Amino acid sequence: MAILGIESSAHTLGVGIVENGKVIANEKEMYPIGNAGVIPAKAADLHAENCKTVLKRALSAAKLSMKDIDGIGYTKGPGMGPCLRIGQLMAVTLAKEFSLPIAAVNHAAGHIEVARQAAKFRDPLVLYVSGGNSQILGFIDDPFRHYHVYGETFDIGIGNMLDNFAREAKLNPAWGSSVAKLAEGGRYIKMPYTVVGMDFTFTGLLTDSIDKLKSNSGKDVAYSLQETSFAMLCEAIERALLLTKKKELLLCGGVAQSKRLNEMLRAMAKPHGTAVYTAPNEYNADNGAMIAVVAELMLKNGMKEDPEKCGVNQKYRIDSVKIGWQ
Ligand code: FE2
Repeated sequence: MAILGIESSAHTLGVGIVENGKVIANEKEMYPIGNAGVIPAKAADLHAENCKTVLKRALSAAKLSMKDIDGIGYTKGPGMGPCLRIGQLMAVTLAKEFSLPIAAVNHAAGHIEVARQAAKFRDPLVLYVSGGNSQILGFIDDPFRHYHVYGETFDIGIGNMLDNFAREAKLNPAWGSSVAKLAEGGRYIKMPYTVVGMDFTFTGLLTDSIDKLKSNSGKDVAYSLQETSFAMLCEAIERALLLTKKKELLLCGGVAQSKRLNEMLRAMAKPHGTAVYTAPNEYNADNGAMIAVVAELMLKNGMKEDPEKCGVNQKYRIDSVKIGWQ
């Protein structure tokens, strides 16, 4: 069974192919993020321009033609409306032309599932951290079979916080890693630290760090911003680990690539005997393969969508998704 997955929720148009759970292609084209960030309409135009090329590249990498494909998945949400629409149109067009079943996939479920399979974890607590998301999630084995959000940001995602700081500090794009680089050898300055139970907030910390740039070295501010925000995540996750008694911790999403965050989470998890796994970078960045992985599971479990009724949902939360395959 070969399944094609299309991801287009933000700056990346990705097309991946899986065959019986194994990723055999994962191609992408990205909208260049400059100081203006992602302009949804422009990114969507670029995705539309690139869709044929990226599809061709994925099929050629997998040494398959569309006639060998048995099903299609696309990102239903969350994400930017115009960008999501391109992936949905591409999926529906292909599904109709080749009479294929179609699955509407939640973006976060893609990041989690591809990482969970790579980790060979059964029931992990998940830290999903990216530009727009910062959530602590755990699977609940009840009749609805869903991910419960144990904790999340009250305002912006930690990735957006790092990106905004990087722009104010006039760093280069690849914002998160630019902040990490600047932070090397920095000294700690006290910053606002806000954790409420297992939830947290980042805007106060962002405003304070931008303000501190006026009278402190960028290095010290970058270091303190990273240490404070990552410590907030560690505190919230430790509380969730103790509450859920889960013994596996899975990190996924763009910010999961942070070396310092990994060090701090591993130091926190060690005394609890918790196994920690971070998804490979290829899957932390947005990609089509993760959508194909979930689509394959959904289609095997009869979770297919009528192509005429396929839509997108910019605010498609992971806790509203039935995880019918786990
Ligand atoms: Fe993502």
